[in-house]
Amino acid sequence: MSLDAYAIRKDFPIFETKMHGQPLTYLDSAASAQKPRAVIDAMSDFYSAHYANIHRGVYQLSAEATLRYEAVRTRVARFIGAPDPREVIFVRNATEAINLVARTWGEEQIGSGDEIVLTMMEHHANIVPWQMLAERRGAILRVAEISDEGVLDIDHLVSLLGPRTKLLAFTEVSNALGTINPVAKLTAIARERGITTLVDGAQAAPHHPVDVVALGCDFYVFSGHKVFGPSGAGVLYGRLPLLESMPPFLGGGDMIESVSFDGTTFAPVPQKFEAGTPDIASVIGLGAAIEYLEAIGMDRISAYERTLLVEATERLEKIPGLRIIGTAKQKAAVISFVLEDAHPHDIGTILDGDGIAIRGGHHCAQPLMKRMGVPATARASFAFYNTPEDIDHLVSALQKTWELFH
Ligand SMILES: Cc1ncc(COP(=O)(O)O)c(C=O)c1O
Repeated sequence: MSLDAYAIRKDFPIFETKMHGQPLTYLDSAASAQKPRAVIDAMSDFYSAHYANIHRGVYQLSAEATLRYEAVRTRVARFIGAPDPREVIFVRNATEAINLVARTWGEEQIGSGDEIVLTMMEHHANIVPWQMLAERRGAILRVAEISDEGVLDIDHLVSLLGPRTKLLAFTEVSNALGTINPVAKLTAIARERGITTLVDGAQAAPHHPVDVVALGCDFYVFSGHKVFGPSGAGVLYGRLPLLESMPPFLGGGDMIESVSFDGTTFAPVPQKFEAGTPDIASVIGLGAAIEYLEAIGMDRISAYERTLLVEATERLEKIPGLRIIGTAKQKAAVISFVLEDAHPHDIGTILDGDGIAIRGGHHCAQPLMKRMGVPATARASFAFYNTPEDIDHLVSALQKTWELFH
């Protein structure tokens, strides 16, 4: 089960660079993950030797590019346990995937007085599209509470579900707290009541195995750039009957069956949702990232990151004045914290001087920050290329920061 993070780091060219003359300690993978050489090479090779537009050409180069692109769809489907590759829609990122559902399914299914239930720990990407939809349709947003530890209050969530609830949308893993939500339990509760579910997997897919059938969700979204792939390619999974029943999102080339000035008929799923030329090379890069992850094994990744989380938590807790925000038992390797008298931005700047990249701010989760009673936090987020040495660097830099402020 063990994993050699030092060997893995050699696959990531970024770790050869220095920051302010120091080795890079990258602890911001929750914002975006670094890329293995396999991804960079796959994209470069695609542009160098295989590039053409897809789905259109009758010539060999285009036919092969199409095959490569569609092979990634099949690979992604397998990666997330989707029974049918047509259930995988390529989008730019998780944000676009959620907006797609809001603009298509939401526009048809959500009416005046209907209710959408979210949780207090959502990223803005899983709040704002629903808020915009609710405003357009005269619907109501309801928000499930969380505890002081950052654990979802399931009793409260259940109490919000009523005859007008049409959608339950929630994150699998909180980007700001690290909390892992009991997805299958929540989707079962929703299903019993005929409520559609959307799971934001942006922080889950990079860190543990995902099986959308076992999770029992109707929609699942994630971003390629957080699963060690390039920016520009993300995924919307939807159950086939749902996708087939939904109207298209963007109109244009590639998503049609036939067009005349009297009217247009649309291509079947998934093309119906992929108007225009997609980011073909990024999809190829995403395929390489998933192949790379599968070779290591998501179970091993998850087990290794758990050891990093346990060690980092124990050591950070000992730093005077440091308080961890988000102490759920079920956590991914994300540690948000505040340090007495030091603003998270200042902490981030001071640590940067030592080559340590962490994030400071509201993490696109302003309602959550308010609930936890902090304007912002500093956040160290780990991936399988992080090592115990990275934790040493973080701890000693934070101790130094504490001394600077006291
Ligand atoms: C939980 C969660 N959802 C959604 C997103 C949005 O991802 P993207 O910016 O790639 O669309 C993020 C990004 O940080 C996230 O952490």
